Amino acid sequence: MHAATDILRLTGGREIAGVTYDEQTIARRVRELGLEVTEQYPDGELLVLGLLKGSFIFLGDLVRSILRPHQVDFMVASSYGSGTTSSGNVRLLYDPETTLKGKHIILVEDIVDSGNTINRLVRLLRERRPRSLEICALLHKRIAAQLELEPRFVGFDAPQQFLVGYGLDHAEDFRHLPFIASLNE
Ligand code: IMP
Ligand code: MG
Repeated sequence: MHAATDILRLTGGREIAGVTYDEQTIARRVRELGLEVTEQYPDGELLVLGLLKGSFIFLGDLVRSILRPHQVDFMVASSYGSGTTSSGNVRLLYDPETTLKGKHIILVEDIVDSGNTINRLVRLLRERRPRSLEICALLHKRIAAQLELEPRFVGFDAPQQFLVGYGLDHAEDFRHLPFIASLNE
């Protein structure tokens, strides 16, 4: 747990409404997710594909809990400007270098909100004929009207608030927080 003074130093005194998931809670759940993934992929090449930037810390912790050989690559998509609501536009800025064909792919997302990002990326990734495609999301707000693919691995069902920390940002700030907090809007 972080003391109030630590939180103030981490955020520079900016508005954090409250800590939603503390460091230990996240660590415990991410280890469990890693073990779930480990158990569900008994054979075949596995590629863990992190969606940047939001998944960077989650991915780092997750892959160290996946106790089997696998590869790691990234995708960069951008769906938000500086606001706290989805713009509906998803732009692909970096594509994985590795071939996806014939591999088990796990797309790693920080959070599923409107589902726009997932819907767009799932269609795109399926065209590349992976052996299988699943999503691992740290957080799921469960408000997406229609998802092309329901995440198989979910860390937490998140409250319908704007969350920051552990990779999640607001206008690029707060990604470094070791916990997940809700933001005063
Ligand atoms: P979606 O396309 O609306 O599902 O949104 C997915 C992306 O929006 C995530 O990968 C995040 O980068 C961002 N996002 C959605 N909700 C939040 C939030 O509560 N905090 C920070 N980023 C969010
Ligand atoms: Mg973001």
